[in-house]
Amino acid sequence: MAVGIFDSGLGGLTVLDAAQRRLPDVDFLYYGDNDRAPYGVRDAEDVFQLTNTAVHNMWDMGCNLVILACNTASAAALRRMQEAGVPEGKRVLGVFVPLIEALTERHWGDNSPPREVEVKNVALFATPATVASRAFQRELAFRAIGVDVEAQACGGLVDAIEDGDMILAEALVKSHVDALLRKLPSPQAAILGCTHYPLMQDIFQAALGPDVKVFSQGNLVADSLADYLQRRTDMHGSGAGGYYTTGTPERVSRHATQFLRREVNFQAV
Ligand code: DGL
Repeated sequence: MAVGIFDSGLGGLTVLDAAQRRLPDVDFLYYGDNDRAPYGVRDAEDVFQLTNTAVHNMWDMGCNLVILACNTASAAALRRMQEAGVPEGKRVLGVFVPLIEALTERHWGDNSPPREVEVKNVALFATPATVASRAFQRELAFRAIGVDVEAQACGGLVDAIEDGDMILAEALVKSHVDALLRKLPSPQAAILGCTHYPLMQDIFQAALGPDVKVFSQGNLVADSLADYLQRRTDMHGSGAGGYYTTGTPERVSRHATQFLRREVNFQAV
């Protein structure tokens, strides 16, 4: 048993990396559906079906808890999977809530009514499917009032990162930030609402300028997971973790090694 981290591809490694640093004694099973990435250009039903299948595979592989380290999957599948009921002793959680709690200065489990917060103008960068779902705005509205969110669907960026084409990825970040700044010239904060984007965080920050506070999910999700595992020791897991992909293991391992700057060896699911 190990804690499962799921993404459509390589992006969840940004969450895995932070979780491994925060929880060095926990085993993790990473599962990338690289063969079917990107999810962000698929419709919600398609994303739900793919996510549901992968999470059931991970439960069957021995995980009790699976984190959807993918905003697109969290937006399209999380609530539906939880409402449909999960098998006894199993759990699935997403990545929106820790980020929105940080943005709205809340602690875990603070379900008090929405209130005014310091941040008033937020730039959201996410996949086309996440932007279309409006899931961020919905989660934000439960917790804060008076926050304007301007969303930019970053078409093409996940493909470029999955292909390891960092020159194209950099050009796309700059053009998506330009497009956002034309709609919202002075955001106070920016959300990297796709777990692939922290791999380009320096480029986002440079294009946005030093005054914009950039929020990404790695450390926030890792802290929230540490807190959760303290309360739910039955979700802790032990034993074999590892790196699994539906794509070509050699290719995925090469790109993952490049991103994490340490050797990572994927095997076929
Ligand atoms: N990392 C996924 C996310 O956080 C990328 C989705 C995709 O495959 O397009 O949304």
